[in-house]
Amino acid sequence: MVRTRSSLCAVLGAIVLMVVSNPCQAADLSDLAAIETWQNMAPGVWKAELGNMQGELRYTDLAAAGPRLERLNQLSKPDFPFAPGQTTHLVTRDDKVMIRIPTGADEKLYGFGLQLDGIKKSRKILTLNVDHWSKGGGRTHAPVPFYISSKGYGVFFNTARFLKIYNQVGNRKDSPHNPAEVDRNPPKDEKQPGPWLALPPGDAVEAQINGTGLEVLVFAGDSMLDVVSRYNLYNGGGALPPLWGLGFWHRVHARFNADQTREELEQFEEKDFPLDVIGLEPGWMTKSYPCTFEWQKKRFPDPEAFTQELLGKGIRLNLWENPYISKYSRMYDEMYPLSGSHMVWLGIVPDYTLPKARKLLTDQHHQDHIRIGISGYKIDEVDGYDFWLWPDHATFPSGVSGEAMRQSYGLLMQNMLYNDLFKKRNVRTYGLVRGSNGAASGYPFVIYSDSYGHAQYITGLSTASLGGILWTPEARSAGSGREWLNRMQTVCFSPMAKLNAWSSGKKPWSYGDVTDPVRDVIKLRMRFLPYLYSAFADYHFKGVPAIRAMILEDGFGELDSQTIEGKLDSETNPYAMGKIIEKTDQFMFGPSIMVAPFYERQATKRKVQLPAGNWYDFYTGEFVGNNKTITVTAEDLDDRIPLFAKEGAVVPMLTEAVNQTDQAYGHPLEVRFYGKTEGHCTLYEDDGKTFNYEKGQYRTRELTIRKNQAGGFKLTEKVTRDTGPALFGPVEELKVMTR
Ligand code: GAL
Repeated sequence: MVRTRSSLCAVLGAIVLMVVSNPCQAADLSDLAAIETWQNMAPGVWKAELGNMQGELRYTDLAAAGPRLERLNQLSKPDFPFAPGQTTHLVTRDDKVMIRIPTGADEKLYGFGLQLDGIKKSRKILTLNVDHWSKGGGRTHAPVPFYISSKGYGVFFNTARFLKIYNQVGNRKDSPHNPAEVDRNPPKDEKQPGPWLALPPGDAVEAQINGTGLEVLVFAGDSMLDVVSRYNLYNGGGALPPLWGLGFWHRVHARFNADQTREELEQFEEKDFPLDVIGLEPGWMTKSYPCTFEWQKKRFPDPEAFTQELLGKGIRLNLWENPYISKYSRMYDEMYPLSGSHMVWLGIVPDYTLPKARKLLTDQHHQDHIRIGISGYKIDEVDGYDFWLWPDHATFPSGVSGEAMRQSYGLLMQNMLYNDLFKKRNVRTYGLVRGSNGAASGYPFVIYSDSYGHAQYITGLSTASLGGILWTPEARSAGSGREWLNRMQTVCFSPMAKLNAWSSGKKPWSYGDVTDPVRDVIKLRMRFLPYLYSAFADYHFKGVPAIRAMILEDGFGELDSQTIEGKLDSETNPYAMGKIIEKTDQFMFGPSIMVAPFYERQATKRKVQLPAGNWYDFYTGEFVGNNKTITVTAEDLDDRIPLFAKEGAVVPMLTEAVNQTDQAYGHPLEVRFYGKTEGHCTLYEDDGKTFNYEKGQYRTRELTIRKNQAGGFKLTEKVTRDTGPALFGPVEELKVMTR
């Protein structure tokens, strides 16, 4: 019998049943070629272009700003995370580009944008298409093609195409790391090296792009947080919302008119509820779905007077819109030739890569909205189901493919409105968008969804932070007062504290049994303004997400998870697949506060995983533990949301709540300290409204707490930068919370 090289290997492989480097594989026979063109772009950032990128759209082309090199250049210079020849690729016969990035056996992968079904993405296949819903599998509102590895690096596929990613799934025959083969049905006397697995672990991330070119960026850093920060910095840094954007938002019913809106906001005043922004839903337009972007005078007879009247009360207006243009719009005829082949809800789909199309829309928006004082937009339906949006084969006048347009339409809208309407006029905006993608960190638009699972909404706060996007777990309605309170508490610790009553007509006080604790948590959010605004400044200047996943926190380590072993069942589980349920229900709010909301309908009790380090109850200052899991109840907390401050936390807050952010200007501060020895924080200030901070017009105050000789604590304040206006008032009180 003639033994071939591979059959000999099979025999040897069966004898050596462990996972070993297999010397029999012939690397030289591989169809893959090493990527040798990695180019160092900045400390910890490398880029390679594979195939032909001509005609391919990169997400970075649509970023809010170019790389923040001045900051990146101050960071450490880590080594490229892969050995020479380890990253490989292939250009297929039909000119598609496939890439392979190796992973280690114990390496965990996280990220891929706003994924509501969990943080960990190891050993999964994901389809990264912008899509409306959030059922998992990768298709989501913002499937950012960026992942982070527990080994301290990240990879960004910077090409606007659908992408199917095989994360440690699939085994190449030429891999030296394949696990040993296991007989699924062995005779009794044959020992196997382990259980038979339906998914033998793969040793790489593999993906193929449906286009002719793929740009890949690799980020390395000193920690996963550093990697995420560098990704954000490379994409222009994080968004800095205007101060008013961090107040409370209320979107009124879709068919409300001016009087109904007025009445509702009067009730906010009467009932002593904070309010900064009112959102008008589709009924403000003459026609919607498709849209005209023109005021419905039957509901809003004098939009300018109305907008100004609200501004006079310190309330900003935000307008809902989707981008699809109705034939009743005055722009329709001119926009028609500048739009794609297919319609959405019978509205034309403008090609906003074309300057003329951008000008048409932004001129109209300026004339009808911005000129009269509108503060921003909610850009709906830029994700859309396949049924609703254009098909993949749709064509656009610029030549951008239907697929690339689908992946980037939300980004394109953010890019256009942010730059051509607001930045140009040196006015900041804060708004919403329902679809986004890579390189979006600089945009002050927050993603929301029609899905409504509270647990998923909390997960979204963590996953968004891994990919340069913002997410709001908005409250719409609830089945009980308890659920309402739980949801309102979560949303008050998110990038946008918002009630969206477009259909439910709910108000914060709609559930009488929880009106007081709901008011309290909104007011607590307002007291946090100095702390939260400073956290967003860190997002902008340093790329550090203001609200972020626990896995980015030092000392947190692994997420608690529950492994459910797969049980063979020929009808329901024929491959005996198991399941891992992750714990993704707590997150960091700013640098030193951990939030662990109650969720699920009636939940009033939950477990909290405290990372290594001392943690204190935010409200009482009581030490609650270090590296352990505790149980908290709503009863013990007087119906407040569980919040924990970490060792050394210095938290600048307003001395008391204000009902509008405008009242935060010049407002005195209380500084809370949690810890045993010392702590410090940097308080950031600017005008809160314009882009002057980009010209260096901002101010920083370093607040340091140290033990004094008498054993008490002393606060020292130092203005460390004084080239911009003051925003908050003086520190009136130091509250040493530690007990
Ligand atoms: C949905 C959107 C809601 C609301 C509604 C108005 O698509 O997610 O928040 O704006 O449209 O019709």
